[in-house]
Amino acid sequence: MTEQSSLFDAPPDPAVPEERVAALRELLHRHAHRYYVLDDPEIPDAEYDRLFQELQALEEAHPALRTPDSPTQRVIGKVLPGFTPVRHRVPMLSIRTETDTLASGAANFDARVRRELGLAETEPPVEYACELKFDGLAVNLRYENGVLVQAATRGDGETGEDVTQNIRTIGQIPLRLQGVAPEVLEVRGEVYMRRDDFERLNARQREANEKTFVNPRNAAAGAVRQLDPAIAARRPLSFFAYGLGEVIGWTLPGTHSGVLDALDAFGLPVSRERAVVQGAEGLAEFHRRIGAQRDALPFDIDGVVYKVNRLELQQRLGFVTREPRWAVAHKYPAQEQLTQVDDIYIQVGRTGKLTPVARLVPVFVGGVTVTNATLHNEDETRRKDVRVGDTVIVRRAGDVIPEVVAVVPDRRPPDAGEPFDLYQRLGGRCPVCGSDIAREEGEVDWRCTGGLFCAAQRKQAILHYAQRRAMDIEGLGERLVDQLVDGGLIRTLPELYRLGVAKLAALERMADKSAQNLVTALEQRKHTTLPRFLFALGIRHVGEATARDLARHFGRLDRIMDASVEQLLEVPDVGPVVAQSIRTFFDQPHNREVVEQLRAAGVEWPEGEGTASDAPRPLLGKTLVLTGTLPTLSRDEAKDLIETAGGKVAGSVSKKTHYVVAGEEAGSKLAKAQELGVPILDEDGLKALLAG
Ligand code: IVH
Repeated sequence: MTEQSSLFDAPPDPAVPEERVAALRELLHRHAHRYYVLDDPEIPDAEYDRLFQELQALEEAHPALRTPDSPTQRVIGKVLPGFTPVRHRVPMLSIRTETDTLASGAANFDARVRRELGLAETEPPVEYACELKFDGLAVNLRYENGVLVQAATRGDGETGEDVTQNIRTIGQIPLRLQGVAPEVLEVRGEVYMRRDDFERLNARQREANEKTFVNPRNAAAGAVRQLDPAIAARRPLSFFAYGLGEVIGWTLPGTHSGVLDALDAFGLPVSRERAVVQGAEGLAEFHRRIGAQRDALPFDIDGVVYKVNRLELQQRLGFVTREPRWAVAHKYPAQEQLTQVDDIYIQVGRTGKLTPVARLVPVFVGGVTVTNATLHNEDETRRKDVRVGDTVIVRRAGDVIPEVVAVVPDRRPPDAGEPFDLYQRLGGRCPVCGSDIAREEGEVDWRCTGGLFCAAQRKQAILHYAQRRAMDIEGLGERLVDQLVDGGLIRTLPELYRLGVAKLAALERMADKSAQNLVTALEQRKHTTLPRFLFALGIRHVGEATARDLARHFGRLDRIMDASVEQLLEVPDVGPVVAQSIRTFFDQPHNREVVEQLRAAGVEWPEGEGTASDAPRPLLGKTLVLTGTLPTLSRDEAKDLIETAGGKVAGSVSKKTHYVVAGEEAGSKLAKAQELGVPILDEDGLKALLAG
């Protein structure tokens, strides 16, 4: 049977394990390439997982069918005592660096190449392949008959280290090449970490109170040289191919750009930011163009690389010591610089978060002059032991805000400041409003407890208060709130109700009619509900659902304001963090005052006796999805009704959805519900359900 199908090239027989395994691998290789390299997956992740698990199970049942290039074999291997040296068959060279970051750097290189090739001025320009200079770690990948058999670091260029088991964990690196592969193909390229992956990794480290990495290059290099492959596998690494090592059994294309295209066709990641240009002007233009894009790239580069495109010319040019004459790296201004810390001050964010910031002796880094750099939080500042007077490394890359990544310990002056202590530094008070500062159990950030009262949090607090799902004040948007707060027209929420048409109409770009509309909206929305009002106050951790639970349980605002932590804990779904946050909020006299003044301004709601147990909740435990336009209920109204009845509203339809409520022009969600057999209701159906 097996023989026959291979003889006649019939489709694989899924009942034969060998054939199913081969078919699955083929599929998984293809989808992994689309996912990791092309960033354009064809199938959902869940489907990929299903195929993967099927292959795993088959290999489990038939161990003889397991091969090293199987997609299941990315994370194997054990903790190593050390790395084995690997002698490179073809030395891994480095490239000469042109430090002149101006266009003249490109002209210098072109002039040298022309001189070496003996080209007269009248002869046509030399053709170059231009690439990015990735800031990571060079590796050599050895493929034998298309299968990845070894990965090694550059080392001293002659001998590197065998890092195969770590490199195998990088999803972008194919374990098997696509198409007809040569007998031996050594691919050279850079392992690097994307900036967003790096930021996420550091955020994770910070949260776990662990050491952060200085920059993506260090993080990538550390991961590649990690002796425990399980740890390496958790570090998000990427790869770009840019050249060749030993090649046997393959006719090379005539140009470097042709080599890159071939590597791309083998399924290797090759950066799209590459170009073939003519002469010095073409080089300078590439340098300029990439320089303008540098911040927007998802990864760090420290320059661009120019290579003479024709391989035959490369051969003629040859090498000087360990550097080819046919290539050069042309730099950009550095993204890391040394400077000194003049002071450490504390910034209050829009949510009350207190962030230590280093004030620096101005330094030009990553293309801009930096005078302040974040220290993130207290623990991190202490871990790095940053003190006033220290010389520090500042990093600014991409759109990421500048940060202090490390101290240079040898350069600490004898009169450097004390180890950093945020509480002591502020005397326990918010530097903006004087409220108590607090750091919750298990949190890394200190916060101002001032809430509505704190000027730093004022705009955020007003926007939160006015939003549709809170007090629903139409016309009170971001631009207006900026004008009101910056112009000193309002400092606290109650002052909103004292604005008046005249004051509002005097604002720039504010028509009389809009001013009148806003005042009317403020008046009308004074009649609200307790859950909306509670949510509008912006108490940390009190979202809409918690506000509703609190209102149900206590019935009246004064009871909530005076409830002890223990009493608050009796509310379903309220845990210690939420309870403490509510308590802390109402312990601040100025927060109580704000509430009093709002009520005095006429904000009101019906109060009850605590309806926790008696109100019917017919939708308890049910998940509904809303789609299309309902005849009378707005989406928010429908959501409110469902949630008050104990139900949840989800954004997408799945097997776990209990009902889909569909109105006019319902789209794909309706189709999905029909496909999954989820019951579909119209508005009347929903109302019937709500009525129990
Ligand atoms: S080509 C013979 N191309 O820069 C030429 N190198 O100093 C060998 N690098 O170790 C290197 N991007 O880590 C080349 N597009 C690129 C590169 C690149 C980064 C690194 C690589 C190498 C070092 C050369």
